[in-house]
Amino acid sequence: MNAPGPIPPKILATGGAGYIGSHVVIALLERGFDVVVLDDYSNSHEEAARRINRLSRGRRARFLRGDVCNAATLEALFRAHRFDAVVHFAGLKAVADSVARPEHYYGVNIAGAACLLAAMARHGVERLVFSSSATVYGLADTVPIPETAPLRPANPYGRTKHMIETMLADVARARPGSRTVMLRYFNPVGAHPSGLIGEDPVGEPANLFPLIARSVQGGGRPLSVFGTDYDTPDGTCIRDYIHVEDLAEGHVAALDKLLATDLARGEALPVNLGVGRGVSVREAIAAFERVSGQQVRTVEAPRRPGDVAECVADPARAMKLLNWHPRRDLDAMCRDMWRWRLLNPDGYRGREVLATAADEMPPIAPVPAGEAQQTFRDAVRG
Ligand code: UD1
Repeated sequence: MNAPGPIPPKILATGGAGYIGSHVVIALLERGFDVVVLDDYSNSHEEAARRINRLSRGRRARFLRGDVCNAATLEALFRAHRFDAVVHFAGLKAVADSVARPEHYYGVNIAGAACLLAAMARHGVERLVFSSSATVYGLADTVPIPETAPLRPANPYGRTKHMIETMLADVARARPGSRTVMLRYFNPVGAHPSGLIGEDPVGEPANLFPLIARSVQGGGRPLSVFGTDYDTPDGTCIRDYIHVEDLAEGHVAALDKLLATDLARGEALPVNLGVGRGVSVREAIAAFERVSGQQVRTVEAPRRPGDVAECVADPARAMKLLNWHPRRDLDAMCRDMWRWRLLNPDGYRGREVLATAADEMPPIAPVPAGEAQQTFRDAVRG
């Protein structure tokens, strides 16, 4: 599709202030879309919303506080705006939490999706990009994993993603005009190159890269390497880490296709978003050490229950159908994540004073690729 014309497509992003959503919203604004965000800020921060609008060079998203499970909220939203498409991020995503209180996960994730689908049907909104996860594959028979692989998620969180995918397939069959792309993310890492937007989970982090950063910044708590006896070259688990900016570009590519072509008409099309390259836990740590100049203290720990040895995408479908190609390597993921952590050691909390002062300032443009390394060095020195 060419650059959007004078009336840009209007996109609803549920959960658009969260980790993935915030990067996608910036990319959508840069693409020229009109963006409305619905977020309840249960695992995100209003400070992220403020920064998105500082980074987006003139275009501003409208941020509305609200619950995607609330039918009245959605009805009011869909009456007020004529959306061309929806990107659905809102939902709970912590695996261990989903094991501890599955009813909560089914309640929020399934009810939220059902409520959204009902509002879309009532208002004739046909195009949807759903934030799914490679977790739907569980223990895969073949690696790299194609979208056609069997789906056997191994925890309640993964099962909610699988159930929503099933709902979307049923809805697509019932409404031949609908078009849905379900993006199955592999392991998102990194942050916006400005260092202003990044991952800031409420509560304890559970994923590898936030824990690597915490082991360096958090007063010397060593990083546990979960399992060193896997049947992999260095004995540690292999994952397909993908820069969150590449992930964001994948959403823009999916929306462009949904808005301008016949892609996924009458179906809910699953599409992997991964690099297609496996990286072991030890390789991830080494890359972080190389890029940051920090040393990560590690301890060998038993395997983490539920972990699979290897999870790597076959990204051929995204490349072919969305014309999407990941562009950022593991070093860029480490560099951008570390810049975010250096500039925001407490995440979005504790930065309100700076942000308030900065609100008076002109918008900050993202750091151009060539200058990123320099800025990063300055941040490390500072
Ligand atoms: C996890 C979730 C997955 C979710 C994804 C989101 C599980 C079983 N899976 O995937 O459903 O979609 O996060 O990003 O929780 N590791 C360590 N030490 C640590 C932390 C992690 O060695 O302190 C290892 C893990 O064993 C794993 C790798 O690092 O091999 C990546 O872990 P993580 O970032 O949690 O992602 P996944 O397990 O792939």
